[in-house]
Amino acid sequence: MTQQRRADGSLRHLLTLGELTRAEIESLLERAQHFSRPPGAPPARSDALAGITVANMFTEPSTRTRVSFELAARRLGADVTNLEVMLSSRVKGESMLDTIFTLESLHVDVFVLRDAEIGVPATVAANVAPHVSVLSAGEAHVAHPTQGLLDALTVLQQKGRCDGLSMAVVGDIRHSRVARSAYHAFRALGVTDLRIVAPPGMMPDDTEFGGCPRETDIVRGIDGCDVVMMLRIQKERFADADIPAGDDYFREYGLTTARLAKAKPDAIVMHPQPMNRGVEIESAVADGPQSVIRQQVANGVAVRMAVLETLAAPLAARRH
Ligand code: NCD
Repeated sequence: MTQQRRADGSLRHLLTLGELTRAEIESLLERAQHFSRPPGAPPARSDALAGITVANMFTEPSTRTRVSFELAARRLGADVTNLEVMLSSRVKGESMLDTIFTLESLHVDVFVLRDAEIGVPATVAANVAPHVSVLSAGEAHVAHPTQGLLDALTVLQQKGRCDGLSMAVVGDIRHSRVARSAYHAFRALGVTDLRIVAPPGMMPDDTEFGGCPRETDIVRGIDGCDVVMMLRIQKERFADADIPAGDDYFREYGLTTARLAKAKPDAIVMHPQPMNRGVEIESAVADGPQSVIRQQVANGVAVRMAVLETLAAPLAARRH
């Protein structure tokens, strides 16, 4: 595992939440709350990243994560470039690291990376200059640290705490980086009842999600929960023949209004999106009063501002 920290212990890269202490996660969330604004209000701005250049390099599709990383960096005053990897020299055979070194020559200081291959963020982190930071925006099925943080911020805003909450993560856990980062974040923040609810073929290996009860029935899985987190079937990580039919899946695992009634009356419903309405979630639930799905999106910018500011703080102090 690549070292995420500098010699003084401060965070230099963010590749996984697995190594962060509760205090570190709480301090990132406190800073994110500082950047959070109600819908319709002007967004928070600062010049904390003035003179710093951020490059977004996504080799998997993304809507929310990419746009929110870009807006977060711009609202902190950074220069931002979005490399269209499919239009870049990567398609002429240039290696990932040669692309990274090129961007370094152009004074990129922070790389935001999404990649379908395991280990790409760590490889880049191990090879960049000492002042450069690497931030994972989604690594294969392994980690999506800023998603874990924005999910935690959303629960804290709604419930005022994570300690002692009952939470169900439902769907294709086996292939989900969102579930893995949620596990790290919510365990660190004191969620004691974190249930893994999935069809047998989408259950993670026994070695993962230590200490979490597993359930294959959605109604039993969400019974009495404070938080229900729904996940998309990660079709891109399946062999075609194994992808379940949408309507069969909905019948067995879709979150409907009737099923949601088994959770607590004030339970919140989360989904990282993209949603497949009528597959893992009914529209009436996704758009209903218990849904906090849009609040999750809004929190993405606040969390990414907090993370960018924190990782780049020593560099910003030297540049300003
Ligand atoms: C997720 C992802 O890419 O891991 N989306 C996101 O970043 N909000 C979830 C998904 O694709 O299902």
